[in-house]
Amino acid sequence: MKPQTTVAFFDAKPYDRIYFDAANEKFGFNINYFETRLSAATVGLAANAAVLCAFVNDKIDGEVIAALEKKHLRLIALRCAGYNNIDLKAVWQKIRVARVPAYSPYAIAEHAAALLLALTRHLPQAYNRAREGNFLLNGLTGRDLHGKTLGVVGTGKIGKIAADIFRGFGMKIIAFDKFPDEKWAAASGAAYVGIDDLCRQSDVITLHSPLTPETYHLVNAEKLALMKKDVVLINTGRGALIDAAALVEALKNQRLGGAGLDVYEEEEDYFFEDNSLQAIKDDVLARLLTFPNVIITGHQAFFTAEALSAIAQTTLENIRQFLADGALPNEICYKCGASECPRPQTGKCF
Ligand code: NAI
Repeated sequence: MKPQTTVAFFDAKPYDRIYFDAANEKFGFNINYFETRLSAATVGLAANAAVLCAFVNDKIDGEVIAALEKKHLRLIALRCAGYNNIDLKAVWQKIRVARVPAYSPYAIAEHAAALLLALTRHLPQAYNRAREGNFLLNGLTGRDLHGKTLGVVGTGKIGKIAADIFRGFGMKIIAFDKFPDEKWAAASGAAYVGIDDLCRQSDVITLHSPLTPETYHLVNAEKLALMKKDVVLINTGRGALIDAAALVEALKNQRLGGAGLDVYEEEEDYFFEDNSLQAIKDDVLARLLTFPNVIITGHQAFFTAEALSAIAQTTLENIRQFLADGALPNEICYKCGASECPRPQTGKCF
């Protein structure tokens, strides 16, 4: 009998086990679940594994990669789409990395819509009032989305679905992308504009581009200053697309209608864990949590039953294919970091 391949699975949550165990019935890997996150201090747990499975806040830096290489680990199978948590230079030509490029883009786009509606119709406040028997409407005045302009940053899989959803509300769609899809724009009635124009014209801005050195703090003080005073900013992409300290300043100065954030640039210290019994030491996060026109969710946009099932299936299929013949269709690009790099295996995408 062929020995079972061992997969070291970091940052394992109860829901991961449910969906991975169900999917693994077909694959038969030996999955070692570790609740701890991957770091230089915990990498030793992967000692006997051929494959490592990691999530968004597992830090895969040069030190971790060097330790994994020493242990002859062959594959890092990310169970997420984004891979800004990996030191690409360090991993290139040492260990191969696969990801789950798409599981349910609908889950994320729908969460962006949920955040926007909750903000524009003051649902957290209304919910709390109603539970206390307070049915006053004072202060709950909302805004129609119909006829307003939506700015989509990043018109990939998720951005396009978000555009479709918001078009359903009767919004006009403008978009910014480093690689515009003019065919899609023509077919869907969207118009590409420069990032500054998008900032100036939009009533709602939703971020769906990956985090790369180029998009780091894409929304900074300068861009916030260009935006309409009542703009609503939605971020279900990656936290560091927004300079959170600049966002706090804009909110303090009432330069923003609101912000719906599913991601935060320093989220790895807090998200996915229960911190309710301790003080939040991150002053920017703590301040963000005080604004009535800010809604923060803990990186849950992907978190639907459909998405979890698809993530488990694709992650294990990535591992199976790699072990079978070294094929890795969902390999990351080690060079440009682009999600849809046409030549990811070569490192010659420029
Ligand atoms: P995608 O690869 O289909 O689309 C990304 C789009 O961004 C592409 O059209 C690309 O051309 C564009 N882009 C790349 N560099 C850019 C730049 N410098 N400026 C403007 N646009 C740029 O990716 P997908 O599946 O739509 O996901 C988008 C992002 O959403 C992921 O990178 C990930 O960070 C985030 N995400 C968040 C989740 C959550 O639970 N909150 C779950 C899944 C993804």
